[in-house]
Amino acid sequence: MPGVVRILSLLLVPLLLGSARGLHNASQRTFEIDYGHNCFLKDGQPFRYISGSIHYFRVPRFYWKDRLLKMKMAGLNAIQTYVAWNFHEPQPGQYEFTGDHDVEHFIQLAHELGLLVILRPGPYICAEWDMGGLPAWLLEKESIVLRSCDPDYLAAVDKWLGILLPKMRPLLYQNGGPIITVQVENEYGSYYTCDYNYLRFLQKRFHYHLGEDVLLFTTDGVHESLLQCGALQGLYATVDFGADVNITAAFLIQRKSEPQGPLVNSEFYTGWLDHWGQPHSTVKTKAVASSLHDILSRGASVNMYMFIGGTNFAYWNGANTPYQAQPTSYDYDAPLSEAGDLSEKYFAVRDVIQQFEKVPEGPIPPSTPKFAYGKVGLKKLKTVEEALDILCPSGPVKSVYPLTFIQVKQ
Ligand SMILES: *[C@@H]1O[C@H](CO)[C@@H](O)[C@H](O)[C@H]1NC(C)=O
Ligand SMILES: *[C@@H]1O[C@H](CO)[C@@H](O)[C@H](O)[C@H]1NC(C)=O
Repeated sequence: MPGVVRILSLLLVPLLLGSARGLHNASQRTFEIDYGHNCFLKDGQPFRYISGSIHYFRVPRFYWKDRLLKMKMAGLNAIQTYVAWNFHEPQPGQYEFTGDHDVEHFIQLAHELGLLVILRPGPYICAEWDMGGLPAWLLEKESIVLRSCDPDYLAAVDKWLGILLPKMRPLLYQNGGPIITVQVENEYGSYYTCDYNYLRFLQKRFHYHLGEDVLLFTTDGVHESLLQCGALQGLYATVDFGADVNITAAFLIQRKSEPQGPLVNSEFYTGWLDHWGQPHSTVKTKAVASSLHDILSRGASVNMYMFIGGTNFAYWNGANTPYQAQPTSYDYDAPLSEAGDLSEKYFAVRDVIQQFEKVPEGPIPPSTPKFAYGKVGLKKLKTVEEALDILCPSGPVKSVYPLTFIQVKQ
């Protein structure tokens, strides 16, 4: 039956060509640092990224593509995201990677839109996220020392990295994916433990799971003392700072750790975080635009934190010490609003980028239409005391001393 044979060969030929091209391409895809010319090299060509932060865990999956497309249309060539460990491992050994938790799909979407990805998998991420992304169940072991070589902490971290990083490996740039660089820990120099062996442990595990050729980096605030505990040989040291900072002085701090290599601001603050009971933080568009212009004119790579903040759904909002809780909104006064709407800041940032790089032509997806729901009436059902059976069906917890949420398994 020659007909059948022909159909088969027609099917086979494109498949073989496709995979051969993929392999060929993968082998020539490289992302590295050119220390001699103070820049990144992408496939051997000088490269700098203009990136924006978006946290998939703060935007419903339904909207991922819309937000990413708006970022692309602003002229960004990369996005940056944290991975929140506690979002994916709510109980020890119980993992969630589907729906709104599908970080691989999120990264693939960015890839399909032609955006590169800067991955920040922690394990600690801060991010004004509950416990900085560390699962609360770590505290069941009362002696645990977080972000150190404490054996209980390292065992949990090691197990988690063994789940997450193998999923990320095929998404690395050199393997045909969009991930160009991977951050280790987060502003570790700001934490009291200052445990180099902990950073060395992470460095080894990241290389074990992601390969020797992955480009690892750290990020710290712009103070020499912060880079002292936050930087480690073999992890490219970058800094973070906002529009109110002397840029020359800030990059001189990075140069103390990295005398050569690309200048990188890993968190250029487009706005600022909020605390309960305080007015919404804002940063003026003019200040952001002129500072961004200054950073780009130095040939530096930059990530805008946040490009879209989004929402702390449920109880995922974090808090600072002394206790100051973050609210549900993580709007951040970013170029895209909490609802993903285009703002004056969005167009100002786009105008600045346009002076340095080609910005894609074509329509920008519009802001989402709003709907007035009218008056929503709330009816009193019960007092908290009357509702205790519903709120705590297992009955009261009795203790002489107050207990933590962890101890009562809340
Ligand atoms: C590599 O892949 C790109 C995009 O898929 C394609 O345009 C290009 O021709 C490929 N290069 C080679 C050498 O196969
Ligand atoms: C910024 O910092 C540099 C380097 O420390 C210094 O020379 C310069 O005077 C500063 N500029 C301003 C406006 O303070």
